[in-house]
Order: sequence, then C-alpha cells, then structure tokens
Amino acid sequence: MVERWTPASWRSKPAKQMPTYPDLTKVEAVEQRLASYPPLVFAGEARKLKSKLADAAVGKAFLLQGGDCAESFAEFHPNNIRDTFRVLLQMAVVLTFGAAIPVVKVGRMAGQFAKPRSADMEDIDGVSLPSYRGDIINGFDFNADSRVPDPERMMQAYTQAAATLNLLRAFAQGGYADLHKVHQWTLGFVERSPAGAHFQELASRLDETLAFMEACGITAETTPQIRETDFFTSHEALLLPFEQALTRVDSTTGDWYDVSAHMLWIGDRTRQPDGAHVEFLRGVKNPIGLKCGPTTDPDELIRLIDILNPQNEAGRLTLIVRMGSDKVAEKFPPLLRKVTSEGRAVVWSCDPMHGNTIKSTTGYKTRPVERVLAEARGFFEVHKAEGTHAGGVHFELTGQDVTECTGGAQAITDHKLAQRYHTACDPRLNASQSLELAFLLADELKRGRSERDAQRRAAAAAE
Ligand code: PEP
Ligand code: CO
Repeated sequence: MVERWTPASWRSKPAKQMPTYPDLTKVEAVEQRLASYPPLVFAGEARKLKSKLADAAVGKAFLLQGGDCAESFAEFHPNNIRDTFRVLLQMAVVLTFGAAIPVVKVGRMAGQFAKPRSADMEDIDGVSLPSYRGDIINGFDFNADSRVPDPERMMQAYTQAAATLNLLRAFAQGGYADLHKVHQWTLGFVERSPAGAHFQELASRLDETLAFMEACGITAETTPQIRETDFFTSHEALLLPFEQALTRVDSTTGDWYDVSAHMLWIGDRTRQPDGAHVEFLRGVKNPIGLKCGPTTDPDELIRLIDILNPQNEAGRLTLIVRMGSDKVAEKFPPLLRKVTSEGRAVVWSCDPMHGNTIKSTTGYKTRPVERVLAEARGFFEVHKAEGTHAGGVHFELTGQDVTECTGGAQAITDHKLAQRYHTACDPRLNASQSLELAFLLADELKRGRSERDAQRRAAAAAE
C-alpha cells in the first residue's frame, strides 16, 4: 500500500539537513505569505523540460546543467546573471555545433540557495558556531547573530529568484541568445585563453553555416530557434518548508507541481528512501534529479526509483552520478548495470565536481580541473563499455574570472587560488575552464556517435 502523498506529508518523516528555527510562529507566517505568492515557473514549462529530458534518456539530446554552488544575496547583480547565462550558452553552442546534438540548458540558478553541510557546527580559533547553510537560511559571516536561521530570508530568496528568472527569460527569448551574436558572447578574459581562441574559431564556422542556411531560406524569421532558446531553472530541493509553500495544483492537469523551479533534485546527503526529501519530491510532477554518490547501493537505487518514478516515465528522473575521478570506473558500472537490466528509463548525468573536492596546500577548498576532466572522461568510458547513453553533465561554474579550481589551460596553482576566490560554498569552474570542458565533452559525444554509426554500418553490411 502506497501511503497518501500531500505537499505536507514529508513532515512526518525524518528530515536531514534542516535548520532549527528559534521561532516557529515566524516560520509559519512566512510559509503562509509565500503560499499566496505567484508561481516562479509554470507547470507547462516543467512538462516541456520533461519531454526534452526524455530525449536525453535515449541519446537524442544532451542535458547541460550548471551554475553556482550557492547563489548569494551579496553577489546578486545583473552582470553575474548575464555572465553565468553566457557561459552556459557558449558551452551549449560548442556541444550543439561540435557534436550535432540538441542541448537542454538548465541553470543552477534562480533559487539555488540552500546548502547541505557535512558538519552542523563550524569551529574557527576555538569558537564554535552553527554552520552556514546558504543565504536562504542563515548568514555567511562568522558571528553568532548571522548564523541564527532566519525565516525572513526565504522571502528575500523568493524575490531574488523571481528577478533572476525575469532576466533569464529576457535573455533567452529577447534576442541576446541569437546565434548571430555568438562572437559577441566571448568575455574579455576568455578571449585571451586557449579555449577562447578555439571558441572564436567555432563561432566563425557557425557564422558561415548561418549565412549558408540563410541563402537556403532558413532564417530567424522562419526558424525562431536561431534567435531564441529555451532555458530552464533548477535547484536542490533541500529547504522543504520553502518548497512546500511553492507547491501548487496545476489547473490544466490537476497534478501537483513545485513551481519554485522547473527541475528539483535530491542531494547525496538527503536521499534516504524513507526520509522527508524523497517523500516530498515523489509527489510533485516536475522532472527531478537524484544524486548518486560512492555509497549509493544498486538495490537501494532501484528502491528509490520505485518511489520516485513508479510509472517509469522517461524524462522524470535524472540520475546525477558524482563518484570522484578515482572511483567512477569502479562504483558507476554496478549502478548502471542494475538500472539498465531492470529496464528503468533514466537520464544518466555526470557531476564531476562533488567527488573531486580537496584541500589545497594553501588551505583552500579546491577541485583540480584535471580530476574534473578525468571523471567526465571516465563516465563516458563506462557508457561506451556498457553500450548506454551519457545523457548529460552537471557543473558548478560561474562566468566570473575566479580562481577557485586549480589547473586548466590557465594553469591556476595552489598559490594563485587566493587571487580571486569568491565562492560562498564549493569551488566553481571559471568561464575558460568551463569552455575547455565543453570542448572535451563535444569530442567525447562526437566519438561516441561516429563509433555507433560505424557499428550500424557494419551491421547493415553484414545483413
Ligand atoms: C551540490 O550539488 O551542491 C551538492 C551539495 O551536491 P551533493 O549532494 O552531490 O554533495
Ligand atoms: Co556544491
């Protein structure tokens, strides 16, 4: 017997990573206010994303999901939104043009505020305070006042998400994403990097292609996809009171949708099958993600899939694999084999960030770009060996010229990390490192495609 789901049924389940608010009446007042506010996204848009993800599940599209580890109130600025959007567009063009595959663009943006933490307390110089859990919960500054969870922060997060989404919609649909402008997307510092030069080369080829298409009568007027793009939002559904307040019945279908973002995911620390986060997301019809880390057990994964996608609907569930470059070859195949042999339709996405975080010799939390690249390559190799599809990638990145991940063509060393280390949480790839990755992925996708084509031709010739 499946228990009845309601937007509040998670409340009777054990919930990890939830803040302890000092005054619950204030939390309830905020929840009520939020519940009366407009949706941030529409159910029809979430369904559109789901159908695109169904294509990614069978190798007919590729998911590109990325953005900040944690958005912050302090860094809220139109230029930051534009720069992250632009990097994602550049990566998408590299993938679409380089690998000839439609790219589904999903930002970790407009709502990615709540963070799970490995420890409840943070200790600095003998002072112990509650950990920072993201701007939607408490403050980053290390003092007792700032670290108290404050429900009013949910209102600010809602407002910031609404304004961010408004700008993203304008960028995606209002002409900024026009493929004729690809040359103009190159950011100053990227232009000077090897990946930037590579990108300008690709942009010139794209210009020629567009001119050729125009001569054939295919223009932005006949084909709006040349001028505009679909861009979706996502975040980790961690702070459940916020998510519940933004969960509504869709009047067209009568189904429940979490209208705080198009796609929501469950983190590696909150994926307990009988826990509150799994309970909450099983009942909303959005496309959802589930992080799979080195401790994910194949049988437990099937149990989670039974709960989260009982109808085996393609596009509903994206499994975001984050093993670490040294574990992907060992830990990923058992999951992939189990899910494939059980006939479950999922998108396999690779998060090469969260299993590759280390402490640099200079004390910063960092991620070597080489390990990020190695995990992505390892993920593709496993799919190749198993004859399955790599459906997407999940990155923490920013359009800013930060120095948070070491290595890459810019050769950021441990000593250079201090120069521009701005993240409020995990280290992010900067724009040139992100582009390098996009070129690698395009090569992998292209190779996979030509190998499959060759196999098909050989099979046809043998008939
Ligand atoms: C994240 O995506 O920011 C995150 C915390 O990831 P994970 O749950 O995989 O550790
Ligand atoms: Co992170």
